Amino acid sequence: MGLFGLPRSPRGSNATLDVSPATLPGDPSIAASLPTPRLDLDPALAVARYEELAQALPGTGIRYAVKANPHPLLLALLAAAGCGFDAASPAEVQLALSAGAAADTLIHSNPIARRADLAEVYRMGVRLFVVDAPSEVDKLADVAPEAAVLIRLATTGEGSDWPLSRKYGCSADDALALLLQAARRNLDAAGVAFHVGSQQRQPRAWEAPLATTAQVFARARAAGLDPRIIDLGGGFPAGHEGDHPGLTAYGAAIRAALARYFADPGQQPQTLAEPGRGIVGDAGVVVTSVVSVIDRGGVRWAYLDAGVFTGLVETLDEAIRYRLSTSADGGPTGPVVLAGPTCDSADVLYEKQPVHLPLALAEGDEVRFHSAGAYTTCYSTVGFNGFDPMPTLVVTGEQT
Ligand SMILES: Cc1ncc(COP(=O)(O)O)c(C=O)c1O
Repeated sequence: MGLFGLPRSPRGSNATLDVSPATLPGDPSIAASLPTPRLDLDPALAVARYEELAQALPGTGIRYAVKANPHPLLLALLAAAGCGFDAASPAEVQLALSAGAAADTLIHSNPIARRADLAEVYRMGVRLFVVDAPSEVDKLADVAPEAAVLIRLATTGEGSDWPLSRKYGCSADDALALLLQAARRNLDAAGVAFHVGSQQRQPRAWEAPLATTAQVFARARAAGLDPRIIDLGGGFPAGHEGDHPGLTAYGAAIRAALARYFADPGQQPQTLAEPGRGIVGDAGVVVTSVVSVIDRGGVRWAYLDAGVFTGLVETLDEAIRYRLSTSADGGPTGPVVLAGPTCDSADVLYEKQPVHLPLALAEGDEVRFHSAGAYTTCYSTVGFNGFDPMPTLVVTGEQT
């Protein structure tokens, strides 16, 4: 059993307590009695963000990245609003189908996957796959004979807080060779995908990969292929510390780049996007409690009941800096190093650049991590040091 006496989900990280709007918001006595750590998730905010992005990128098929937060209610509401899904495994495909998504609104975007998983995803009805290497084109041709293929281009990841630049992606020359290989193997060589890095703060980051895509498409056409789909990836930001423009600025920059590099009205590409953080990030708050505040040789340390292994993995290298608030806010503040509850010395959140929190912060106070709806519950361990994975509390109309 997980927290709240609910059975754990098969992935161990999504115990859910649904609280109706009548019982939770505005009633501090109830909120204070809820266990921590937890993610307070308002799925309606994520749906609103999906609609905002769909408006900023008219004509682009939005495929929410299930990996960011696979909560079943969130997926069901997004599916009902018309959103498709980006899945990385058979389990994520199953979650999307169970949420009501049609298989033809799904894309498998994990470029390197087990042969058996590719076969299973294909059997489940998915027909669009992203790959970036010859071995993966061959695997796909073997087990998914009528699939359409997008080749993932490498990007620099510059301008993003969480770059995805080294592990996946290939050069323009390799992308062309892979499209030709896919066609030879009777797959539909449908186009190109890329990801400009997560929490991408520069709308112009899509410009360079779109220019490269245009070259690949032109060369592929000259070689007799019919490339026509561009997957713009994710990267749209949430409200972490630091500035970034609004989604309309991203939409405008991407549309301008598309108009520049795909000017021929007879050859307009179809576009897809795979946002995760940009949809669900701002819909969640991770609520933690202070276990202890300790002075270590003049440095103040606050130990929380959640950390790197229990939902806050993206604080590694201090890459993602969440906005924080506490139940002790109001008085004077000072620098404090935050640490998680496990005995692992890597379970330290912000040490290079300590955060400033109230000097009055003490055992039992709440520390809230805002805009933490993405990559938190699904990034928890299954129980390192005996600490449960972080559960989700579905809330409505809460301030995130
Ligand atoms: C292939 C792919 N698509 C989409 C996403 C979602 O990215 P983001 O949360 O930055 O929107 C990721 C994130 O890792 C990814 O790897």
